[in-house]
Amino acid sequence: MNRIDSIVELLKGANTVLDIGTDHGLVLIKAIQRGYIKKGIGSDINHAPLNETKKHIAELGLTDKITLIQSDGFENIKEPYDVVVVTGMGYKMMKHILSKPHQTPNYYVFSPHHELEELRVYLSHHGYEIIDEDIVYEKKPYILLKVIKHYKQLTQEDIILGPILKTKKEAIPYYESKLKAKLDYVNHVDLNDRKVVEEAINYYKAAIKNLLVT
Ligand SMILES: C[S@@+](CC[C@H](N)C(=O)[O-])C[C@H]1O[C@@H](n2cnc3c(N)ncnc32)[C@H](O)[C@@H]1O
Repeated sequence: MNRIDSIVELLKGANTVLDIGTDHGLVLIKAIQRGYIKKGIGSDINHAPLNETKKHIAELGLTDKITLIQSDGFENIKEPYDVVVVTGMGYKMMKHILSKPHQTPNYYVFSPHHELEELRVYLSHHGYEIIDEDIVYEKKPYILLKVIKHYKQLTQEDIILGPILKTKKEAIPYYESKLKAKLDYVNHVDLNDRKVVEEAINYYKAAIKNLLVT
């Protein structure tokens, strides 16, 4: 299954999904077409993608099911929603979006394109709990996080491995590639940074070993 389809699978049974940074709108379009959700709100900070997506939605006859709103994060969103999706952008943009006041959904689906560990730290410090994690391999691996608003502090091990991902065998190739990158890198860093890299190496090695025997 590809990244978009895997995101869509996490929306089954939702009523109204708010997709922030909707761009092509494919998450909402597929979720509606499969009958997984009743209504979609697609928001994007940029006008151009919204215009294209509006035409596509009209061609598909889904205009009454998907509302498009130009908005910086939650800023112009007044309608109720029960699930929030923020995917396909970096941690800094996600942090900017999440730091603004908003109505708490039943759950969030996050998938950063990079800086996953930084996102886990942010969630851990700001009262979010990761309740599930999936991995999808396309050109590169993508991690999908299902998150609720609930305080749950993560350990350093869980920030690096993922609190749920570390229990899933599908993560082995991802951990192996992270381990290889850290092993290539460890001798090129100074003594202070080396401790951090060595700690990560030990976490990856232990996680791979655990997953291979379970
Ligand atoms: C790479 S696309 C990701 C599209 C889609 N969510 C996905 O996962 O494939 C990122 C989109 O986020 C939008 N974006 C960036 N910052 C935003 C913000 N603060 N509020 C809403 N949309 C934003 C961009 O305009 C762009 O269309």
